[in-house]
Amino acid sequence: MKKKILVTGGTGYIGSHTAVELINSGFEVLIIDNLSNSREDVLEGVEQITGVRPAFYNFDLCDLSRLDDFFREHSDMAAIIHFAAYKAVGESVEKPLLYYRNNLVSLINLLELMGKYHVPNMVFSSSCTVYGQPEKLPVSEQSPILPAESPYGNTKQISEEIIRDTLKAVNELRAISLRYFNPVGAHDSGLIGELPLGVPNNLVPFITQTAAGLRDELSVFGDDYDTPDGTAIRDYIHVVDLAKAHVIAVERMLKNKQKSSCEVFNLGTGNGYSVLEVIKAFESSTGVKLKYKIVGRRAGDVEKVWADTTFANKELGWKAARDINNMMATAWKWQQYLMANKDRYLVLSQE
Ligand code: UD1
Repeated sequence: MKKKILVTGGTGYIGSHTAVELINSGFEVLIIDNLSNSREDVLEGVEQITGVRPAFYNFDLCDLSRLDDFFREHSDMAAIIHFAAYKAVGESVEKPLLYYRNNLVSLINLLELMGKYHVPNMVFSSSCTVYGQPEKLPVSEQSPILPAESPYGNTKQISEEIIRDTLKAVNELRAISLRYFNPVGAHDSGLIGELPLGVPNNLVPFITQTAAGLRDELSVFGDDYDTPDGTAIRDYIHVVDLAKAHVIAVERMLKNKQKSSCEVFNLGTGNGYSVLEVIKAFESSTGVKLKYKIVGRRAGDVEKVWADTTFANKELGWKAARDINNMMATAWKWQQYLMANKDRYLVLSQE
């Protein structure tokens, strides 16, 4: 019998890539997603890649009674990977309660029902945003958690605390929080990838949309940072490497004989790239020239951050394998797939 894994937010960017890796590793995947920031036809891409269409449930995790029905039906789930959350930093500043309600209530509902139905394992989707601008680089899991810059970031910090406190109180629950650095790229097939609805906030979708002619030019936010070329530095990690780490985290918990355990891992490559270096990597790996201009800094951005991945490398036996060129080439392949299927997707990027 295949072990059942619930992937919340499974039609989203990281969720869909993780669903693929789980299926390829022999798990049965169930997806709950309310499609607030994704589309159901992502499941077709997952099916084309794996030959399996995961069972899909369209509802909101904040609906406790609907979620209770789901748990009753699937109380044999082996683990939950919880991706479903709002993630736009700027929007969270404008609508904090929307973010607190959605991101925290959904997590609380899941933890409550995990206790009630004895589903013991959760992987939680956290972010390097919890470190703010670290004093020391690279940033390890022991680095101090700084006051969050945005309600979005705060929901990640509070969520980690909710998980920690719940695990202390409820025996037989295990959790792993994965703090992602900057996930980019797409599946090698080009059949799934990041699908921003409206104008993208993040760098790489903005790059690929500009290269595809959907945007006039990319704005580089600031060239007066204390970095070699003046632009901000991030640790970009390929989404497939990230997805594989989730499978390893699930397998680690399934093997774990301890009743209760709470762990945190950084997921990055350990390498920092500036915005200009990312642009250069995009141009050299795709052969496409990018139109960009330097503008002022974006409020709330940190100057530089990259991961110390020693703990994840040693404890999980996981290491990011794909380089920045592969990240750019696959992101571009996905953008070209979107362009070739314009009737289905173009409307999404228009605003
Ligand atoms: C952002 C969030 C982070 C969140 C992550 C995932 C902020 C401040 N941080 O990370 O909390 O976990 O997304 O959603 O929003 N850039 C440009 N031009 C653009 C877009 C980005 O120059 O059009 C630059 C940014 O200034 C930054 C880098 O590219 O230096 C990466 O930006 P982005 O992809 O938005 O990620 P983060 O800001 O690192």
